[in-house]
Amino acid sequence: MTEKKTIFSGIQPSGGLTLGNYLGAIKNWVSLQESYNSIYCIVDLHAITVPKEPKDLRHNTLEVLANYIASGLDPDKNILFIQSHVSAHAELAWILDCFAYIGELSRMTQFKDKSKKNEGNITAGLFNYPTLMAADILLYNTDLVPVGEDQRQHLELSRDIAQRFNNRFSPTFAVPEPYISKVGAKVMSLQDPTSKMSKSDDNENSYILLNDKPDDIMRKFKRAVTDSIGVVGYQDEQPGIKNMLDIISKITEEPVQRIVDRYSGKGYADFKVETAEVVIEELRPIREEAEKLMKDKEYLQKIYQSGAEKAEEIARKTLRKVYKKVGFVPRY
Ligand code: AMP
Ligand code: TRP
Repeated sequence: MTEKKTIFSGIQPSGGLTLGNYLGAIKNWVSLQESYNSIYCIVDLHAITVPKEPKDLRHNTLEVLANYIASGLDPDKNILFIQSHVSAHAELAWILDCFAYIGELSRMTQFKDKSKKNEGNITAGLFNYPTLMAADILLYNTDLVPVGEDQRQHLELSRDIAQRFNNRFSPTFAVPEPYISKVGAKVMSLQDPTSKMSKSDDNENSYILLNDKPDDIMRKFKRAVTDSIGVVGYQDEQPGIKNMLDIISKITEEPVQRIVDRYSGKGYADFKVETAEVVIEELRPIREEAEKLMKDKEYLQKIYQSGAEKAEEIARKTLRKVYKKVGFVPRY
């Protein structure tokens, strides 16, 4: 490896990817791939922290990989792999569980939110989710973790655990920095623009999927919840409009203020149509390419197998070091 810094990030295969995943995470990854050693994972171990149909999980895992590639992540420049293929993730997660406190894990807002939705069957896996995420990151001596705003708290915890371990023994883990872009870090629901766009939302009009057809995208934006102000503006009182301004600006790189100026004196209808059109054109080639890739399972297999091999080599080294530091007797 060169002296380029290392990036690690991942997405759960828990359904189709949303415009939030794309603008908050993947689009940034694509623009970072030339300047970093990048490792992108499909975190299937994380996905089973809430109940999953095995058949869906298998399909979604391959679909996330297809979407990574279709969005422009070059398998020759990035390590793309499936988390369960590299057992060091589960192994390091156990060690880190022994360095994480119940108190800090209980404060995680994602745990609180998700346990509300799964009341009555909150698993230990859901509770321990952040230590597995810390293991993902720390195995690769990661410098930078590009994620959406909702992952900031998990990342802080990963940093705390890394520092705690380093202080207890000796410098072992690189302490990772978050990379959260200003625009697009939190794409909001189209039906309730005060909460984030999420594929686990019951209302399918609230999110755009990367494989939505143009007609669906247009319909969902036309139905998007706005406000009664009636003037396109970028302010907190207009969260629906603000969200659409962010979406256009993140995709086209046109400054928000210029878009606002273009709409002076016009209503919301035209603005919604433009937002839909921008999204349709951005997602069209990705959807088409992902569809093609999903028909070529052999190619996908080649990518994830070679990705796992490369990832494993790095991960094993870190795990060996960690085992030694905590005092496990080496087998060899
Ligand atoms: P997940 O689907 O929860 O595995 O999220 C994968 C990545 O997408 C993480 O980096 C998230 O922060 C990011 N992400 C998910 N939803 C959104 C959203 N609505 N806006 C921005 N980023 C998001
Ligand atoms: N927890 C992240 C999410 O829900 C997914 C994830 C798992 C991740 N491991 C990671 C993100 C490591 C970045 C780095 O979005």
